[in-house]
Amino acid sequence: MTPETLQELPTAGPGVSIESFLDVLRRRRSIRTGFLKDRPVTDALIEQILEAGRWAPSAGNSQPWEFVVIRNLETRERIVEIFKTQMRDKVEIEEAARGQRRRVNAGVDFRHAPVHILVVGDPRTNDAYPMRTKLDKWEAHFFSSLANCVLQILLAAEVLGLSSMYISDVASPYFSVMLKSMLGIPDQLQIYHLLPIGFAKRSPTIHHPRRPLEEMVHRERYDRSKFRGEAELQEFMKTMSIRGGEYRF
Ligand SMILES: Cc1cc2nc3c(=O)[nH]c(=O)nc-3n(C[C@H](O)[C@H](O)[C@H](O)COP(=O)(O)O)c2cc1C
Repeated sequence: MTPETLQELPTAGPGVSIESFLDVLRRRRSIRTGFLKDRPVTDALIEQILEAGRWAPSAGNSQPWEFVVIRNLETRERIVEIFKTQMRDKVEIEEAARGQRRRVNAGVDFRHAPVHILVVGDPRTNDAYPMRTKLDKWEAHFFSSLANCVLQILLAAEVLGLSSMYISDVASPYFSVMLKSMLGIPDQLQIYHLLPIGFAKRSPTIHHPRRPLEEMVHRERYDRSKFRGEAELQEFMKTMSIRGGEYRF
């Protein structure tokens, strides 16, 4: 099919242009400060966000996700306390290994987000995969499926003018056990990510850059001239990753 005939086909999503789609992707950012605690997020908004998560693609259509929607202030404050406690050894490890403690902690401003969505996965759904897939790569497929679901939730939030961020530390052993016991989550389930959701005043200085497309695209064969050496990787860490001074939490 030529590009011309492709263009003649009806668009999959009437009213959605590629420009507006890319715009949503570019605007979605991890928002870690500025949540407006007094601006309510309605149940209808949360339902639309979760509907986006429900439609995520999953390995074998296993749909491993479930969502715990938390609004209760005391529960959210307790989550923040657990977050702070589990952060202690993360900071200590960073300091011991890399001699700095600054870049591991995005802070606890997320506590102001009026809704917390906890995404949990059910590994028993791995039985949906073909047997070889289940034996070979259940873990990659299980987590990729959950990741798709989370991303769809974050994108839907962006479309609705809401902000969010990832709190992946909830999956650590201590955090998971504490959350499971606090929220009555069955032991078989896996705690995946916590997504605080709220309206936020966004900082204009937010700086989460992306590598240029040309650097990462290889045409027909891998272009070895683009294979990054140690120095280039170190430069990348410094200028773009959260370990670099330019990254703004
Ligand atoms: C699997 C995964 C785990 C992440 N965990 C955290 C986290 O625990 N805390 C945090 O502040 N950001 C976390 N992030 C957010 C990334 O730091 C962020 O997506 C990245 O720096 C790009 O910034 P952006 O989301 O604003 O585009 C995580 C992202 C992913 C995909």
